[in-house]
This record gives sequence, C-alpha cells and structure tokens, in this order.
Amino acid sequence: MSDVLAATPVEDEVAALVEVVRDHLAREPGPLTPHRVATALRATGRPVGDTTVLAVHEALRRDVVGAGPLEPLLRRPGVTDVLVNGPHQVVVDRGQGLEPTGVRFPDDAAVRRLAQRLAAAAGRRLDDATPYADVRLPDGTRLHAVLAPVARPGTSISLRVPPTRAIHLDDLVAAGTLAPDGARLLRAVVASRCAFLVTGGTGSGKTTLLAGLLGLVDPTERLVLVEDSSELRPDHPHVVGLEGRPANIEGAGAVDVRTLVRQALRMRPDRLVVGEVRGAEVVDLLAALNTGHEGGCGTLHANSAADVPARVEALALAAGLDRAATHSQLASGVQLVVHLARGRDGVRRIREVAVPERGRDGLVRMLSAARLDGDDLVDGPGAERLAVLLAGAL
Ligand SMILES: Nc1ncnc2c1ncn2[C@@H]1O[C@H](COP(=O)(O)OP(=O)(O)O)[C@@H](O)[C@H]1O
Ligand SMILES: [Mg+2]
Repeated sequence: MSDVLAATPVEDEVAALVEVVRDHLAREPGPLTPHRVATALRATGRPVGDTTVLAVHEALRRDVVGAGPLEPLLRRPGVTDVLVNGPHQVVVDRGQGLEPTGVRFPDDAAVRRLAQRLAAAAGRRLDDATPYADVRLPDGTRLHAVLAPVARPGTSISLRVPPTRAIHLDDLVAAGTLAPDGARLLRAVVASRCAFLVTGGTGSGKTTLLAGLLGLVDPTERLVLVEDSSELRPDHPHVVGLEGRPANIEGAGAVDVRTLVRQALRMRPDRLVVGEVRGAEVVDLLAALNTGHEGGCGTLHANSAADVPARVEALALAAGLDRAATHSQLASGVQLVVHLARGRDGVRRIREVAVPERGRDGLVRMLSAARLDGDDLVDGPGAERLAVLLAGAL
C-alpha cells in the first residue's frame, strides 16, 4: 500500500471519536463548533488535546459539507477516481491502476448517508425505492452510487474527479498516451474535418482525448456538445453545451440525448459533438453525419476498432434502424475511428486509427490504417485511404 494513502493511527483515533461526538451532538442539536465538540468529548469522559478537538471538528464539518472522509482523497494531486465498495474498502486511481487507501467508514450506514447527501447536493433522491443515481455534483465531479443491499459488499460510490484544467494534446503526449507522430496524425484528423469516433473501454481516456482534440479545432468554428452528463471541457472559445437530465420524482421533465442531438442540429454547429454515444442517439448522429454535418465526432464504448460496426449496429437496431441502413450510414457518415486502450501498466494509449470499409455484402468492416506501437506508426491495409482523407491536412 502506498504510504501517502495510508491512514495514520491518529486518523483512526479521530474516526472513533467522531462517532462518539456525532451521537452526542445528535441528542442536543445546535451549531457545529469546536467548543461543542470539546464539551461533547469531555462529557463522554475522554479529555483530549486541542489538536484532536480540531481534527474531530474538521472531520464532522467535512461530513456535513463535502465528501466526508473521501474529501482528502479527492484533493490529492493526480487522483482521477475514488471508489468505495462498502465501508471497509476505499480505493483510488492515480493513473497507475487501482490503489488501496487507509480510509474506512465505521459502517454501511455512514457510506449510505454520504451517498445520499452527495446525491441530494445534485438534486437527486437516493433511497430504497430508487437505490442508484448517476449525477454530476455542483463542482463537476461525477457521482455514481448504488445503495446496499443492491450493491455488495455494501453501498458503493464511484466518484470521477474532473480535470482541474483543460487537457491539451501535448499533455497526452507528455503522459505517454501518444507519441509525437501520433499527435501529428490526430492534428490532421481534426484539421481535415473528418467525422470520427474515439473508441475504447470504460476509463480508457476517450472523453479526455476527445476534449484534447476539440481544443485543436479552429477557433472560428462553433462547437455544439451534447452529453448525458457534462464532462467535456475543451479549451476552445466557442462552445455550447447541452446536457440531458433524468425525470424528476414525478416521472416528468426528462431530456434525453436523442432529443438534444436534434436540437443541436438547429443551432448551426460547425461541429456536432456527442460526448458519449450509447443509445438511440446513434441514429440521429448517423443521420446528421449523412446530411452534410461535417466534422461531427463523439466517443463510443468498444473493445477494439474492429468491434465498432457491431456496436453501432446493436445500438441502432435497438432504436429501430435496420442492419442494412445502419451499415450504409456508418460507411458514409463516419470517416475514421481512433481507438484507445489501457495497458497493464495502467497507462492509456492510442492503439489504432481505422477506417470503415463496406464489403460486397453491404456490411462495414474496419480496416486498420495505422497502428501506434510505442513511438512507431505502423501502416495497415487502410493506410492509403487514410492518406486520402487527410490529404492537405498532414
Ligand atoms: N491519457 C491519459 N493519461 C492519464 N490519465 C488520463 C488519460 N486520459 C484520461 N485520464 C484520466 O482517466 C480517467 C478516465 O478518463 P475518461 O477520458 O473519462 O475515460 P472514458 O471516457 O474512456 O471513460 C479520467 O479521470 C481522466 O482524467
Ligand atoms: Mg467518457
């Protein structure tokens, strides 16, 4: 376990005292002050020093306002994800895979309270009737929570920390995600105004890469972003974002991504961006890309570039678009796919650029155009097609 993330004995002692003081304060409601904390500690027969009183006060305060015991983890530099699997397991991701931490909750009720409070901060109720929530907190952090016993081994919380500043393509080069040659290729993709999809597994860095690429878009172009839950923060002077929302408690007022894609098309976008294509909106996106909306882009969950046609087909079929029509629209609407994957070392890397090719049977297969292997760009069978697409932009 890494030392910085380990709990110290003092933290353990404070955690125990916090519970005692919380019970005490609950019996006599009033404002939370260090003085009341000290009084409560004395009343329980545990005289402690000022430092401990202040530490207990601070822990209680965080419980009331921020993310409770998770707050220090969220503030640690480089932490992108904080995951709570019930009271006894809290792990973080700092870019090198999951790391255990010394943070613990006294019991599941404490995790549940925190999950409910965070969801409430985003205007969502989390209870046994609706035991899960996926919301964006006011500071931009994305919260997903599922209450126990639906979640095992206990109430589960996943927090994704937003980057504190916009990520640029050069940052990704520095992080080892792509080599300078790969960056040159992607700059050309953006400059060529090709329609493209960024693909990869969960947490492979799709959204981050897309934001970096959008930062390269000519500042005179207008970007309209459509997202289920707003995450993209491109460094670009002309961005309009549309964010969906779930129905309220009465079941009314839902705005889905599909509707927003249609609205976006009426907003004179130079680039229509669908942050995450994961449902029926694929049909509207394909339609838009086939009716003169150039330069559209988005991310799509796929385990390999070769999987893209099947993924798109499955999503489109569920939305009522038949197989032949889907493949025909995919072939003419999407010019290329940039695929990312996370290595065993935890580093997210761009693996491949692929172009769609329609076979005699009318179905699309992805042709690998360039494989990114370490610092090398290795041409694949689609290399010529890619060169034609990017002609003038490279
Ligand atoms: N190239 C990268 N290098 C290091 N960290 C990254 C990189 N790309 C993304 N991350 C971090 O990984 C997490 C997941 O990235 P994200 O782009 O949201 O993935 P996805 O959209 O594929 O689920 C984020 O917290 C992000 O800050
Ligand atoms: Mg994403």
